[in-house]
Amino acid sequence: MKKISDFVLGMDESVTLAAANRAKQLKSEGRDIIDLTLGQPDFKTPENIGNAAIAAIQNGKASFYTQAGGLPELKAAVQSYFADFYGYAIEQNQVLITTGAKFALYAYFQSVLDADDEVIIPAPYWVSYVDQVKMAGGKPVIVKATQENHFKVTVAQLEAVITDKTKVLLLNSPSNPTGMIYSKEELTAIGNWAVEHDLLILADDIYCHLIYGDASFTAISSLSEDIRKRTMVINGASKTYAMTGWRIGFAVGDSEIISAMTKFASQTTSNPTAISQYATIEALTGDKSQIEFMRKTFEERLNTIYPLLADIPGFEVVKPNGAFYLFPKVTKAMEMKGYTDVTAFTTAILEEAGVALVTGAGFGSPENVRLSYSTDMDSLKVAVERIKNWINSSNQSSGTSN
Ligand SMILES: Cc1ncc(COP(=O)(O)O)c(C=O)c1O
Repeated sequence: MKKISDFVLGMDESVTLAAANRAKQLKSEGRDIIDLTLGQPDFKTPENIGNAAIAAIQNGKASFYTQAGGLPELKAAVQSYFADFYGYAIEQNQVLITTGAKFALYAYFQSVLDADDEVIIPAPYWVSYVDQVKMAGGKPVIVKATQENHFKVTVAQLEAVITDKTKVLLLNSPSNPTGMIYSKEELTAIGNWAVEHDLLILADDIYCHLIYGDASFTAISSLSEDIRKRTMVINGASKTYAMTGWRIGFAVGDSEIISAMTKFASQTTSNPTAISQYATIEALTGDKSQIEFMRKTFEERLNTIYPLLADIPGFEVVKPNGAFYLFPKVTKAMEMKGYTDVTAFTTAILEEAGVALVTGAGFGSPENVRLSYSTDMDSLKVAVERIKNWINSSNQSSGTSN
């Protein structure tokens, strides 16, 4: 009997999770591995947030199902957050609370896409977008942003791929895996283009509070009424509040789409975990001092590690100003070491230098590798040193190509 569906057989495992698992396996075998695959803050959730969860357990509030779309109190907190941070007012029926931002994205694609509807996805992209679009029967249309253009797509590139099937334009700024941020001018041009072509915009703003140096975050949804009407904002607790394990995300946008997504959620998750929803009310409304501490720590690491990484022979790096990733182009380093395939190159760095990175292949960019600076400064320095020594060592390493 054929047990597994063709659909799941054809699906890719998340490359980030696969790389993290391999690193864990080697560690458990006693190998000294520095893991730079992580897509999450390396901080504990702030205490006030944890205490709110404990209180919700103790007073019994967290014992029960909540509304499928999330607690009204949490939706109200998201409304206040939008008024403060995004600078515009939203109604409660424009908010859906989800099991992580990942599920908000999934529910969105399932709710808006019909068979063969096209979604424009700029590459390098976060690993799950492509598979999620396919799961909804849609067609991902990839537009490759170049490193020379700081990994940002232009209107001309979008114009070249639009068809009468195009329904959604996805934007993720700051980006995973590149850390790049679109400027207000760039977003205005892209947003107006989407309005002109009557497209929906999906804005994944999950890294919007991790911004460094002189950079600033612009929400595309804040640029005009015309743009806002067609934009679904995806955001959540994971990255900003060090709450990846709590699984709370939210979607904010058109009330008709939110209502469809809520129906979809009611038949799949019933509701996001009640304990986590109470914790997120505190995250959004309570003391934020830890948040700034975490942001500053990331910034210090970026400023320290970026020049060291750029100094590795064959590594070409653009300095990002958001999120917590660096995405060097390694084609020259691969050549120096005799590799033609970036995944094999990444595996060799893990096996031979003891540093776990993620291959760029899963992000639609087989010239790059991703490393996360979501680990302590000493480990980061040692990791970069190890990679450098490995590159500088004899080029006749055990792996040759592929
Ligand atoms: C760009 C991007 N969007 C969404 C998510 C999903 O976040 P969550 O933990 O809220 O599901 C991630 C997590 O890695 C991400 O990097």
